[in-house]
Amino acid sequence: MRKTLIAGNWKMNNNVKDSLELVSSLINAQLPDEVDVLICPPFTALYPINEILTYSEIKLGAQNMHFEVSGAYTGEVSPLMLKDVGVSYVIIGHSERRQYFNESDELVNEKIKSALIHDIKPILCVGESLIQRESNIEKETVKNQLINALRGIKSEDAKEIVIAYEPIWAIGTGKTATSEQANEMAAFIRNTVEEIYDINVSENLLVLYGGSVKGDNAAEIMSQSDIDGALVGGASLKAVDFLKIIMYNNHVQ
Ligand code: 13P
Repeated sequence: MRKTLIAGNWKMNNNVKDSLELVSSLINAQLPDEVDVLICPPFTALYPINEILTYSEIKLGAQNMHFEVSGAYTGEVSPLMLKDVGVSYVIIGHSERRQYFNESDELVNEKIKSALIHDIKPILCVGESLIQRESNIEKETVKNQLINALRGIKSEDAKEIVIAYEPIWAIGTGKTATSEQANEMAAFIRNTVEEIYDINVSENLLVLYGGSVKGDNAAEIMSQSDIDGALVGGASLKAVDFLKIIMYNNHVQ
């Protein structure tokens, strides 16, 4: 049984004060048992947020990490440092990192391997650009990203990985993929993972959708057979908006 995961990627937003206010509102809300909630704040807010999450079920994630544990890598943050402040998930290979920081599939692969070694669950982001979709190579693009990112990773480790399908053209644009488009790609990702590993890995794999998920489209997206959750950017920055997505099923008001 795959448990729904709703993750908030705050990107480069929120100072410590804003972060603590936002997390306090989430802690005070009654969250549905059937949904795992994850927040991925900027590095600077991880420590204080972890302190107030002590009695909460909300999970803490980072938006990136270096694959080495320590050393002369100015400006980087290691998996051990993340563990030290309570991080249990890390977003790897987000399209913004691939685009603005030249992260290659090979680097993404190194980071995933390192996260797994250190017991941090990687959320591997894949997705095509608008040009790639218009050229009908979106599946080929995503398949290549998956094959390269998962190279050399054994099936018992692959079980810890979450995959987020984020079509680049839907990120921050207000343009969501239709739920059919999103589900078709989620199913394709699951099939590809089955080809690389086996049905045990693919059936238990969490596939999230990301790209302009909001309170008013969450229920439709989440109702799709192969979508197990959402990776939310803009709408995770306000408690009321994020809670609407978390409570997409209207179980709790
Ligand atoms: P938006 O929800 O703002 O479109 O961002 C999606 C995203 O990139 C999450 O990682």
